[in-house]
Amino acid sequence: MPLSSSPSFASRLLTWFDRNGRHDLPWQHPRTPYRVWLSEIMLQQTQVKTVIPYFQRFVAEFPDVAALAAAADLDAVLTLWSGLGYYARARNLHRAACLCVEQHAGDLPRDLDALCALPGIGRSTAGAILSQAWGDRCAILDGNVKRVLTRYHGIEGWPALPAVETRLWQLAGQHLPRQRLADYTQAQMDFGATLCTRAQPACVLCPLNHDCVALREGRTRELPTPKPSKTLPQREAFVLWLEDKDGRILLQRRPPAGIWASLWSLPEMEDRVSATQWFDMHFRNRFDKAESLAEIQHVFSHFKLRMRPLRWRSLASRATVRDNDDLRWVARDELNTLGLPAPIRKLLEP
Ligand code: ADE
Repeated sequence: MPLSSSPSFASRLLTWFDRNGRHDLPWQHPRTPYRVWLSEIMLQQTQVKTVIPYFQRFVAEFPDVAALAAAADLDAVLTLWSGLGYYARARNLHRAACLCVEQHAGDLPRDLDALCALPGIGRSTAGAILSQAWGDRCAILDGNVKRVLTRYHGIEGWPALPAVETRLWQLAGQHLPRQRLADYTQAQMDFGATLCTRAQPACVLCPLNHDCVALREGRTRELPTPKPSKTLPQREAFVLWLEDKDGRILLQRRPPAGIWASLWSLPEMEDRVSATQWFDMHFRNRFDKAESLAEIQHVFSHFKLRMRPLRWRSLASRATVRDNDDLRWVARDELNTLGLPAPIRKLLEP
């Protein structure tokens, strides 16, 4: 299937590009290898609209490889980069320009391996340079293209896995048209950035929609497969829902650092022993009279927390626990005036 559909995949993208793609980007006019290279490096982590003014200032100062290699020092380059971020890109660019002067007669080499040997240029960037600057028949495989290909072919697995990436390079190569390589590269980027987007692909408008596997199988949300999540450590906590006779709830302010910093929450202890000790210090009631409520599982960035809520009603000895900076009896209708962690609010106000 992929092989027989190859030509039409590219020609459908090119037809779409003719009507909807970007044709007036500054590095397209004139499209020299140096300008294409510079734009691809600037665009690696940055959006087109941010890049444009930086690109224009940069080429005004350094119009070609030789000028960049002859820059007085790295600072002159970094100054023009200032605000774009990821400054290693600028350092690599300057080093690569010097290498081009030393090894390639002051020009970018028209060769995939030689380009990949230069600092800051990976295989996809090298393909983008060769196809756009010289019209060479080279594939690209950036994040946009990976998304398009995994959806169109219904390919499972995180695209950075070597086996998946190898398969995607193969497919990218098979789809290459015979002509219009510069436009085809730009078409894929524009298509991924505007139609086949990560969150809301516009499948109704898509020129590939009649044979896209993800669309046919309702899997556009699942593809590309996300990076496998690391297994987070599991922690436990007891949360104490303490209510007095008037239905007020005892809240405790969390420490100023750590999770839920400074929010008001239910008193929380790591284990049953410390929960019992804390309870006995503050109340004369029996700890074991508590009602056990359903566990709550909450996921933080670095761990999972299983909370076991214990609830006491009509606690008599409210006077023994007075309001202070860190503990407060709060009426139910006051809860919404305080900052509470979402899962705790959900527990208290179902
Ligand atoms: N990202 C990387 N290269 C690009 C290009 N040529 N156009 C738009 N976005 C890009």
